[in-house]
Amino acid sequence: METVNIALLGLGTVGGGTLQILRRHADAIERRTGRRVQVRRALVRDPAKARPAEAEGVAITTAIDDILNDASIHIVAELMGGCEPAREWVLRAIAGGKHVITANKALIAQHGNEIFAAAEKHGVIVAFEAAVGGGIPIIKTIREALAGNDIRSVAGIVNGTTNYIMTEMRDRGLDFGAALAEAQALGYAEADPSFDVGGIDAAHKLAILAAIAFGTPLSFPHVAIEGIDAIGAQDIHYADTLGYSIKHLAIARRDAEAVELRVHPTLIPQRHLLARVDGVMNAILVQGDAAGESLLYGAGAGALPTASSVVADLVDVLRLLSAEPDHRVPYLGVRPGAVTDLPVRPLAAIHSAYYLRLGVEDHPGVVADITRILADHAISIEAMLQRPDPARPDTMPIILLTHRVWERAMDQALDAIAQLASVRGPITRIRVHTDGAC
Ligand code: NAP
Ligand code: HSE
Repeated sequence: METVNIALLGLGTVGGGTLQILRRHADAIERRTGRRVQVRRALVRDPAKARPAEAEGVAITTAIDDILNDASIHIVAELMGGCEPAREWVLRAIAGGKHVITANKALIAQHGNEIFAAAEKHGVIVAFEAAVGGGIPIIKTIREALAGNDIRSVAGIVNGTTNYIMTEMRDRGLDFGAALAEAQALGYAEADPSFDVGGIDAAHKLAILAAIAFGTPLSFPHVAIEGIDAIGAQDIHYADTLGYSIKHLAIARRDAEAVELRVHPTLIPQRHLLARVDGVMNAILVQGDAAGESLLYGAGAGALPTASSVVADLVDVLRLLSAEPDHRVPYLGVRPGAVTDLPVRPLAAIHSAYYLRLGVEDHPGVVADITRILADHAISIEAMLQRPDPARPDTMPIILLTHRVWERAMDQALDAIAQLASVRGPITRIRVHTDGAC
């Protein structure tokens, strides 16, 4: 049986999980591919760090050239993270004729167009299932299983860390910092957790999902991004009182004229399936013209779930080693020459319902002033809560749910409301999912 040598760039959470699965399922992989896998080398930054028992027999190095100049290595799995030096090393691996597997969404979202072009030129495969949704096979599902559809939208919870934080704040009353520390200890968070909390990681994943769903180029710079930083424990509580959960959603929609690409907290009715996706779990809802709605649910981060996707990519590469390049699934789901650009719709032009939380002075006419401004902008109110906060007796929190309105009108109304002398502090605005629209 042919032995295929691989190297891991990175032996952290995902690299360690990958080694574990490769050892555990070595026989099954042979049965599935007719090839034996040998992990020859692994690149790390700190040679003094303890490594998992499964790393025994793997030559550990801190010098990338030991791997890139080793002609016996056929496949490189980039499991380090970050754009540089990952981009440079992946391009060098490709130029050297090595196939590449990566879990790095930042790399694919920001440099995928360049990397795919290089792979095309050198006739090698670049596989990236682990980059989106951890253990959920969402890339394969969209590119292959739903290939008979015109995909209209992809929306979901794609960051395990933020979902974990918001779930723990709601269910265990943890404060933000404690919940984030737990997510970091469990290996879910990015090296820089502000990528999770600030929505950048979800935006990287959305850029990839949109490109493969719509056959458009990777457009990360055009994703509108809001993180969970502005969401307080009180918003989670008020949303619950109104019958909603707050989830950090990534949303891509397409119509004949444009695409929408946005990542932001969203109030979702508690009866909706996405509202029940808790902890580190991810879920992605794909709307196709033929299949209708498909929901994929699973662990969005963590060593073994992510490694499950890395190994699935490895099995694909092993199966394709002797196939003609023409038999490979195109990176973005359509042939390279058929990728079609579409303009990205600005956030001001979306249509959404809103949750608003304001702190106001408690005296007659204050609510009337606010509702007059909303009415002047044709914004209709669906529900209102006024709940005194014992911790701040001088400020009355007012919570409003509106019907759907153009975001531009909401921006203008909020600018005017913020000018009222009776309004104190910033206004929290969260988009609300209504049936058929987010
Ligand atoms: P991690 O635990 O921090 O591991 C990173 C590994 O890469 C470590 O072994 C580190 O070496 C090595 N490394 C980093 N920079 C290096 C450099 N410049 N030179 C040599 N070695 C370097 O990260 P991770 O959580 O496994 O994430 C890896 C990738 O998977 C990232 O792209 C991440 O976004 C993605 N991902 C992670 C998850 C998850 O749940 N963690 C899920 C999906 C995707 P040392 O061990 O010596 O520090
Ligand atoms: N930091 C990411 C998350 C890892 O929490 O979802 C999985 O991509």
